[in-house]
Amino acid sequence: MNLADLTKQLDALAVEARADFELTSRKDDLVQAKNKFLGRKGLVKSMGATVAQLPPEERPAVGRELNRIKDLIEADFDARMLQLDRQELDARLIASSADLTLPPRGESPAGGHPLIQIEDELIRIFRAMGFDVASGPEIETDLHNFEYLNFPPDHPARDMQDTMLVEALAGQQDLLLRTHTSPVQVRTMLKYKPPVRIIAPGVVYRHDHDQTHSPVFRQIECLHVDKGITLSHLKGTLTHFVRALFGAQTRIRLRPSFFPFTEPSAEVDVSCVFCGGEGCRICKQTGWLEILGSGMVDPNVYLACGYDPGEVTGYAFGLGVERVAMLKLGVPDIRTFYENDVRFLEQF
Ligand code: PHE
Repeated sequence: MNLADLTKQLDALAVEARADFELTSRKDDLVQAKNKFLGRKGLVKSMGATVAQLPPEERPAVGRELNRIKDLIEADFDARMLQLDRQELDARLIASSADLTLPPRGESPAGGHPLIQIEDELIRIFRAMGFDVASGPEIETDLHNFEYLNFPPDHPARDMQDTMLVEALAGQQDLLLRTHTSPVQVRTMLKYKPPVRIIAPGVVYRHDHDQTHSPVFRQIECLHVDKGITLSHLKGTLTHFVRALFGAQTRIRLRPSFFPFTEPSAEVDVSCVFCGGEGCRICKQTGWLEILGSGMVDPNVYLACGYDPGEVTGYAFGLGVERVAMLKLGVPDIRTFYENDVRFLEQF
């Protein structure tokens, strides 16, 4: 066999290889087809074996020919492999349920969560009335959450607050998740001399869970201590507050109540924001809605915090942000605030 014959035969092999590759429809068939030509016992290899029969001066030329054909077949193989890859991807996309030709859903721009919007509004109202904003830790000591606030140890009044305890490490004080933001008032009085006029917004925790109670919720508590503060200041502040929030026609009423840290204490109702006081389903025909707890700070709290009860007096009150938000936004179930369903959130 001479060089010209060999070249012809090799060219024929390349043509045959390409035709074989075209016929394959799976990648492992393609790899097998390639082995038929380029494998260890493949056709190109055995053709190369004939080189030994050629005169030495022709061998380099034959070597070059063999390499040319190998490269050619490799290139055809790669091209076919790419095609098969694409076909496989196309088939997968067609089989999958996602329809990529559907138009996009459109943007949903971020916005403030309704609870935060209401909390901001409440804070704005109190700031405008001259209150400072104070904050404190959510993991509290029993001391700050209860004892300074005139809850005696083991007193049943603690049951009012469905406390969640934090497992204490050796040598640590008794810790709990604060049940109200009143400990912020304690911390403020321990740190600053009177007068104080603060609100304490923040997250609080209670073991309580139903349509109107969440185990994690937000409160804003208020404390105003100075010389000569009376119940009238409390009533005036509350009246102004509910009118700023619900409108100028809103009225309040105080009902006697009990909290360990205030004496006297009062639950505060507002005239129903839905019926204006006529009586409806929401106010259970009473014309009133309960919105917060309040009272004149108990002298024992002043003593515990280092204030002189002979010198100063003051009032305090606390309200639930969720409760206000439910009334203000007409949301009947507190849980919808936490589900983060955009169809709900987008309404506000
Ligand atoms: N700390 C009380 C509570 O969370 C609310 C309150 C605050 C009541 C201040 C009276 C005075 O239940």
